[in-house]
Amino acid sequence: MVLVTGGTGYIGSHVAVELLNAGYQVLIIDDLSNSSPLVLDRIERICGKRPGFIKCNVADTDPLRKVFSDHPIDSVIHLAGLKSAPESVSEPVKYYSNNLNATLCLLKAMSEYGCRKLVFSSSATVYGVSGAPPFSEDSPTSCTNPYGWSKLMSERIITDACTADPSLKAVLLRYFNPVGSHESGLIGEDPAGVPLNLFPYICQVAVGRLEKLHVNGNDYPTEDGTGVRDYIHVTDLAAGHLKALNYLSNHDGVRVFNLGTGKGCSVLQMISAFEQATGITIPYEISPRRPGDVPSCWADVTRAERELGWKASRDINDMCRDGWNWQSKNPMGYRQ
Ligand code: WQD
Repeated sequence: MVLVTGGTGYIGSHVAVELLNAGYQVLIIDDLSNSSPLVLDRIERICGKRPGFIKCNVADTDPLRKVFSDHPIDSVIHLAGLKSAPESVSEPVKYYSNNLNATLCLLKAMSEYGCRKLVFSSSATVYGVSGAPPFSEDSPTSCTNPYGWSKLMSERIITDACTADPSLKAVLLRYFNPVGSHESGLIGEDPAGVPLNLFPYICQVAVGRLEKLHVNGNDYPTEDGTGVRDYIHVTDLAAGHLKALNYLSNHDGVRVFNLGTGKGCSVLQMISAFEQATGITIPYEISPRRPGDVPSCWADVTRAERELGWKASRDINDMCRDGWNWQSKNPMGYRQ
């Protein structure tokens, strides 16, 4: 049985679908602080099977221990966590206590119940502003906000735990920019409040919830002056988690992998791709740069291709088509 923490969230729900479709037994724990239980019904509609679910915060020691004592969990995919970079700047203690305690409680429970395989959701944000793309797993890390530091610190904690106990093994997945939705349009990204991220913001403009996109700066040293990122289809990202589980069945220790496409896409290129894929015009205006943004970020994905046997297969058009399919069918997300 695979335990997916944060499994009713955007990434988690897509990971759960791929696991169930691959024949895994899946148990989701989530505190539902940033997701809807409706997702469980949608996952069942997609897969014909329903994942187990327990409402639980990973940092709550006793409920978490009960999850392990009551279920034959042999591996964990740990996605639960607070993930807003700007919010983490205004509330650092909340971010460190939530995200680090979750990792620590999980490692303690895994050790107590003999669960030896961990896949951890990390982020390309750990590459910070120091280096230049393409970022490889050996690129220097330096974070620009407490959210990123909480991910890097969790990587450190997990690495030290695996060094101290060689029977424990882990894969640390550094996500670049996940976007899009499952092809069914039944699950997708449903941010609370006004989206901070580009793609869900564009989708909400397209569906009429927001008036226009504000492009954060067009004076960056990039092809068209707007920020460049490595957008990856969330289904490709989810598939990377199954490859990580396979990797752990015959490798020891800890290994970091970038999950990206290896290709950069600017804000203006994303707008154009979305318009071409959907036939919908996205009105926008150029606004000032957003503090903390880096000009360009994209992945060197050779290690994941070589060692995981994983490569993203969906392109920007697929991301826009599938993202719009979700948003157009669910204008208010999971809020009916
Ligand atoms: C992408 C580009 C913006 C919004 C963030 C987190 C990172 C990860 C992914 C968790 C940038 C521009 C954005 C808007 C815009 N999350 N933009 N108008 O900042 O690369 O990464 O999400 O791990 O940790 O930091 O993604 O989508 O916010 O921005 O012009 O309304 O779109 O300036 O160039 P980002 P993003």
